[in-house]
Amino acid sequence: MRALPSLTLLGLILVGPGLVACDAKPGETDRAFSASGQVIAMGGGAGGAANACFTCHGLQGQGDGVSTPLLAGLDAGYLQKQMEDYASGLRPDDVMSRIAKDLDGDSRRAVAVFYAGLPSSTSTIATHSASPPIWRTGDVSRGITACASCHGSNGQGAGEGQPIVAGQPVAYTLEQIDRWKSGKRRNDPRGVMAAAVQRLTDAEARAIAQWLSDQPVSPTPASASASASVSAAAAARPAASRETRRPDRSDGA
Ligand code: HEC
Ligand code: HEC
Repeated sequence: MRALPSLTLLGLILVGPGLVACDAKPGETDRAFSASGQVIAMGGGAGGAANACFTCHGLQGQGDGVSTPLLAGLDAGYLQKQMEDYASGLRPDDVMSRIAKDLDGDSRRAVAVFYAGLPSSTSTIATHSASPPIWRTGDVSRGITACASCHGSNGQGAGEGQPIVAGQPVAYTLEQIDRWKSGKRRNDPRGVMAAAVQRLTDAEARAIAQWLSDQPVSPTPASASASASVSAAAAARPAASRETRRPDRSDGA
């Protein structure tokens, strides 16, 4: 069990709704959403206290290190999409589907904006550990596309719709891979994830999940400069080899 909420945090929760009541100026919308999202995160929203996100996802949105994922610092659009998909049944889950259905669309967006704005983990011991080869290069003979081509070389995401997968607990990541293999989770655009993991062996999945759990959600200054030199090296390579690292997305993804 984590430490109890600090008094400051409780204070924020209590005054939160008052602060945002008539705050709809352009540019302030996200802040207003985030504040009402915080109330849902701490109080559960329409579903009541049993749905309070923090009880499972932690006070800082850090997850439980086992089967409950971290939310802090993930992309707001990704988080909102997951809430929609839990509610619609594209990503069925015994716990989350019920919770997402208890919220309306605005509340799902608000809580997504709130968690996206929380600071993500940046410190890690293993930032520079080498990624598993299958992550970096995939395996053409088995039709496995490099995970890095969509999720970035350290799992920190690659822009719109290519989510951060770094920093998640091992068991959570393995469970997601299983659900895509079995077709239980079906919310990936054009089936990209189902295809990516279909021929992955259990050992490969474990190696990836283990390595990802040690990667920071956002680049540390050190790994940012490391990846800057990686991109510099990539830029020096012939265009053809870059093509294989970053597939063309002119199909609208
Ligand atoms: C009773 C525990 C519990 C509560 C309360 C809870 N969650 Fe979850 N949440 C989970 C578990 C377990 C998962 C993993 C489910 C899966 O494998 O799809 C999860 C997954 C998620 C994900 C998917 C993250 C990703 O990386 O794809 C999001 C988003 C999420 N929860 C948001 C919320 C929000 C917002 C609330 C509050 C309104 C909330 N959760 C309340 C247990 C909980
Ligand atoms: C063609 C692009 C693409 C490739 C290649 C790809 N992914 Fe994904 N991955 C995605 C997208 C898009 C999502 C988000 C789907 C959604 O909206 O839920 C995702 C989601 C995930 C998630 C779930 C994150 C969460 O928080 O629940 C994991 C884990 C993951 N991918 C691992 C992998 C691994 C491991 C590989 C390589 C074997 C891989 N991906 C290859 C595009 C890709």
